[in-house]
Amino acid sequence: MYGADFEKRVDSLVARYPQPKAALLPVLWEVQRAHGWVPLEAEEWVARRLNVAPSHVHGCVTFYTMYKQRPTGKYHIQVCTTLSCMLRGSDPLLEHLEKKLKIKTGETTPDGKFSLVRVECLGSCGTAPMFQLNDDYHENLTLEKVDGLLESLP
Ligand code: FES
Repeated sequence: MYGADFEKRVDSLVARYPQPKAALLPVLWEVQRAHGWVPLEAEEWVARRLNVAPSHVHGCVTFYTMYKQRPTGKYHIQVCTTLSCMLRGSDPLLEHLEKKLKIKTGETTPDGKFSLVRVECLGSCGTAPMFQLNDDYHENLTLEKVDGLLESLP
């Protein structure tokens, strides 16, 4: 679907498990790495490749926020607003980001540089408040730290 290397990586993931369907999450991750997000056609391809129902694949893509259901900006900011993060200031943090980036949560800046979303617990509650920027966690955030981080991005 995305070239010979992609097919090879998928084959090697599938070969690790007794049942192809067990490779669903890592194969979806490969799709996202290759494409930048997980389009519906890719979900259908994964369903055929792993011999699972397309609805099951779609259920995983929509359940786990690590899978993107639409293209995002170069920098994808996922702000955790679950209990520990909320108690330690994730709401003002999100408002600050909306003001700074001049977008609402769920939107992408017109230049395609930043996307901002709210997500459920990212499992880093002890270092709340935090967000995930692309593949990296940024923890114990303050508004000043966020400003410095955004300004340091190319
Ligand atoms: S509550 Fe934010 S990481 Fe768990």
